Amino acid sequence: MSQLPPIYVTQPYLPPLDEFIPYLREIWDKKILTNAGPFHARFEKALCEYLEVEHVALFANGTIGLVTALQALRVTGEVITTPYSFVATAHSLLWNGNKPVFVDIEPHSLTLDAAKIEAAITSETTAILAVHCYGHPCDVDAIQKIADNYNLRVIYDAAHAFGVRHGSDSLLTHGDLSVLSFHATKVFNTFEGGAIVCPTAKIKLRIDQLKNFGFVDETTVVAAGINGKMAEVNAALGLLQLKHIHHALARREAIDARYREALRGVAGIRCIDAGPPGEANHAYFPILVGADYPLSRDALYDKMRAQGVNPRRYFYPLISSFPMYRTLPSAHPANLPVATAMAQEILCLPIYPDLADEQVDRVVALIASR
Ligand SMILES: Cc1ncc(COP(=O)(O)O)c(C=O)c1O
Repeated sequence: MSQLPPIYVTQPYLPPLDEFIPYLREIWDKKILTNAGPFHARFEKALCEYLEVEHVALFANGTIGLVTALQALRVTGEVITTPYSFVATAHSLLWNGNKPVFVDIEPHSLTLDAAKIEAAITSETTAILAVHCYGHPCDVDAIQKIADNYNLRVIYDAAHAFGVRHGSDSLLTHGDLSVLSFHATKVFNTFEGGAIVCPTAKIKLRIDQLKNFGFVDETTVVAAGINGKMAEVNAALGLLQLKHIHHALARREAIDARYREALRGVAGIRCIDAGPPGEANHAYFPILVGADYPLSRDALYDKMRAQGVNPRRYFYPLISSFPMYRTLPSAHPANLPVATAMAQEILCLPIYPDLADEQVDRVVALIASR
């Protein structure tokens, strides 16, 4: 076992504590802790400006955001989705009473393969729930074209896609709604938190009602809403985190470049394209451990862990292999050959703003050594 301190796949980014104290003092002075308080309003406004989007509705976490997005669009029946994601993506469908229909992913981006969507559409299909996996954009134009042809809703699980650009626009403006996660492990965190990016004030209003038990005013409840509200302490942290996001993204970009350069000559290791410079957020650093690498993916994973380096096999096992999904016809591995193969080869290497260059080199040395 290595004597060096362990390295984890990620570490939350936190601003200096001294900078947060005045925010806490303001909360203590005002004694407004939640229910759309002043920090909530300020954070929503600042987030819209930073992300260059029209409206956002803040949430307690991304999962409640996903369920609420489905509710807000009144999604029923079957929903086409990816097996290659964090389990919350498909779980949100079960919580909304939908039947997930799994469609395979593209080998280069590991996002939903738009070319395979049409074959999975039935008379029961009402929506597509796609994931910008690792922050890599889905083929948003192809997905929208199919949705328009078949009158389907499009929801993006953008839990990994904070700040990602698509050409000159925010990636988050695509589809009917995009759902962000501000969980501790994400590029941008509010400890726990999330948001729905909304195209109009009308849909934001409905979402704001749904996340507040369905209340529209003091005495009127119009829907079986839930408690999805973000608390003031989380909103205040978000406001402060926005001041540091440029540094956090720049450091991620530098680490990404260092890994790519160092791993270029390592036979059997393929780095996945992060997207054009200036558009990506480098939320993860996924590599594929191919058959021409001397060890299997799991043997490399074990070897690294034995030396105190903790990569993660996101996303293995596939969502479609979990007990609540595996009996669905679309969950059969024969229907998902690319996702099945990728889940066997994937390894996400440590990446976070406070990861030092020497630590990146230590990770690379373990992969490059025979
Ligand atoms: C792809 C994806 N979707 C949804 C979620 C759920 O977000 P949260 O943890 O904020 O509920 C996560 C991560 O946690 C995720 O990685």
